[in-house]
Amino acid sequence: MPRSAVAPVLTIDGPSGSGKGTISRRVADQLGWNLLDSGALYRAVGYAASMAGLDLSDAEAVTRCAESTRITFRPDAEGGETRVYVNGHDAGDELRTETCGAAASAIAAIPSVRKALVDKQLSFRKGKGLVADGRDMGTVIFPDAPHKVFLTASAAERAKRRYKQLKAKGLSVTLSSLLREIEARDARDASRSVAPLRPADDAVTIDTTGLDIDAVVAKVLALVGSP
Ligand code: C5P
Repeated sequence: MPRSAVAPVLTIDGPSGSGKGTISRRVADQLGWNLLDSGALYRAVGYAASMAGLDLSDAEAVTRCAESTRITFRPDAEGGETRVYVNGHDAGDELRTETCGAAASAIAAIPSVRKALVDKQLSFRKGKGLVADGRDMGTVIFPDAPHKVFLTASAAERAKRRYKQLKAKGLSVTLSSLLREIEARDARDASRSVAPLRPADDAVTIDTTGLDIDAVVAKVLALVGSP
């Protein structure tokens, strides 16, 4: 298919708490493009594998789980965040906990698990365009994307943002333990042999430390240009 015939993609990669989720949602809304929250797919598999009592380092069992888990996204009835359903059950706020993030990071290091999720991710590329949020959107899944962004922020600021998000959901967390967990997860994501967290060579890096959401959204929209 000629490149002009496929929907354009904006990839937004970066470590946890860099603002990817919020920025991706806002930019997708403004452009009227689809949104792929690829982290939710890894979280859903980590969640399903944990619920099934699997050993998260058992590559074969976790891959079978990734291949068979049904993951669907549905808009929240009250117009808030999209809900993620795992095998028909609303995984709720559980999916956003750091425990689930750590499970996602563990199973995401298994190459056959990543392979099992490729087609699902590609299927989001339709309609007017796609904003794809993750770790390897610009490097592995959509290497031909015309627009690529890599968001960063200091670890302290990222931990503070996650702390606020989780507290707002009523979850009990401490800032110091979150900082430790986030740093450990980022180190694992960046050092794994398959699809490590890194900016694509043609990505524009934006450091969001000290920037508010509107400022980052404006920078990203300026990169894409007016549709
Ligand atoms: O973005 P989020 O924090 O929801 O991602 C959870 C975990 O899923 C990450 O720490 C990472 O290990 C994994 N992930 C990945 N590739 C992606 C998106 C997420 O490996 N494209």
